[in-house]
Amino acid sequence: MTHRPVISSTGLFTPDDVITNEELVASFNAYVERFNAEHAAEIAAGELDPLQPSSVEFIEKASGIKARHVMAKEPVLDPAIMAPRWDERSNDELSIMAEIGVKAARQALERAGRDPADVDAVLCAASNMQRAYPAMAIEIQNELGIDGFGFDMNVACSSATFGIQTAADYIRAGNAKSALVVSPEITSGHLNWRDRDSHFIFGDVATAVLVEDAAIAPAEHWDILGTKLKTVFSNNIRNNFGFLNRAHPETAGTADKLFVQEGRKVFKEVVPMVAQMIVDEAGRLGIEPQSLRRLWLHQANAGMNRLISHRVLGHEANEDESPTVLDTYANTSSAGSIIAFHQHSEDLAPGDTGLICSFGAGYSAGTVFVRKTA
Ligand code: COA
Repeated sequence: MTHRPVISSTGLFTPDDVITNEELVASFNAYVERFNAEHAAEIAAGELDPLQPSSVEFIEKASGIKARHVMAKEPVLDPAIMAPRWDERSNDELSIMAEIGVKAARQALERAGRDPADVDAVLCAASNMQRAYPAMAIEIQNELGIDGFGFDMNVACSSATFGIQTAADYIRAGNAKSALVVSPEITSGHLNWRDRDSHFIFGDVATAVLVEDAAIAPAEHWDILGTKLKTVFSNNIRNNFGFLNRAHPETAGTADKLFVQEGRKVFKEVVPMVAQMIVDEAGRLGIEPQSLRRLWLHQANAGMNRLISHRVLGHEANEDESPTVLDTYANTSSAGSIIAFHQHSEDLAPGDTGLICSFGAGYSAGTVFVRKTA
């Protein structure tokens, strides 16, 4: 018996707190003023370069981002803290990453009318895990009451698409009939809010994708026509945080233990790689790229998406062909293309073909071609 993987539903959890570019820049510039005042003597002596202010205009022009959701707004905006803060939870409480993952997962299950007891696997696919073990996925599995197995996987911004292919492969192999891919992205924890070049990039969110065997899926679902993954090593997006930092306590708190990137290089190298990958994979699947009804692309930068969609579709894509959620969510790492799919897929007609595509650190990239049924 052949098993055909489909996407039955998606779920989304959005934190209540919002930080606009204006609020973000006001906080950043207050920090800059404070830093420069505190270091006035070294700056005057030419021993230290003064920090430069950020600007709302630059952020919007360079990235298309206007606001972002975060789990904890006040401490992020406090120039003396500029990092998320919340009460530490005991081992008996649901951890924060699991909590938001469960919220997104519950929505996906409800939308598919799926009883958690009928789910076989939970993959927590995200760009950072809040702890080493036990796996976040197993905690999410437990909270949802799923009898099966779960594990964590990290492929940075491509975690969700890598998770979808992994889940689809379990379905194809007959090892699962229903698998949840949950992506809780608390990126505010790995963003350096004091770094002018990147302080505006990220936001927090959680998404969930229910991948199932067509045999049990609800009538309205998305056929997975094909998935393709690619990785090419690069240091241009990197985060050196980890437990081995204990081996080097003198550098443990430094900026490269948070997100760092060479944004220009990433832009230049990733755009052609991803555009080519999409065109090649469409060719393999016998899909004319220009016939794609919609592209749900990774949400890192509006300019990158403009270029990629132009190369794929052969013309400048409009908001209907390549929707963006960057303006309100910013870059939410692996969750970005799933938010776009979640919010902008209901209007498609049966038979319409689209593409979910992610790309990011690694480098990593993943494509999931889907077709709407019913
Ligand atoms: N406010 C005001 N000016 C700023 C600024 C800020 N916050 N940050 C940088 N600038 C200035 C720089 O100093 C530079 O000035 P100069 O030209 O006088 O030297 C100028 O703006 C351009 O800086 P640059 O960093 O080259 O900007 P960019 O146009 O490449 O845009 C990114 C930066 C990060 C938005 C862009 O490179 C990008 O999106 N890359 C894709 C990578 C990505 O999003 N990765 C996320 C993980 S997938």
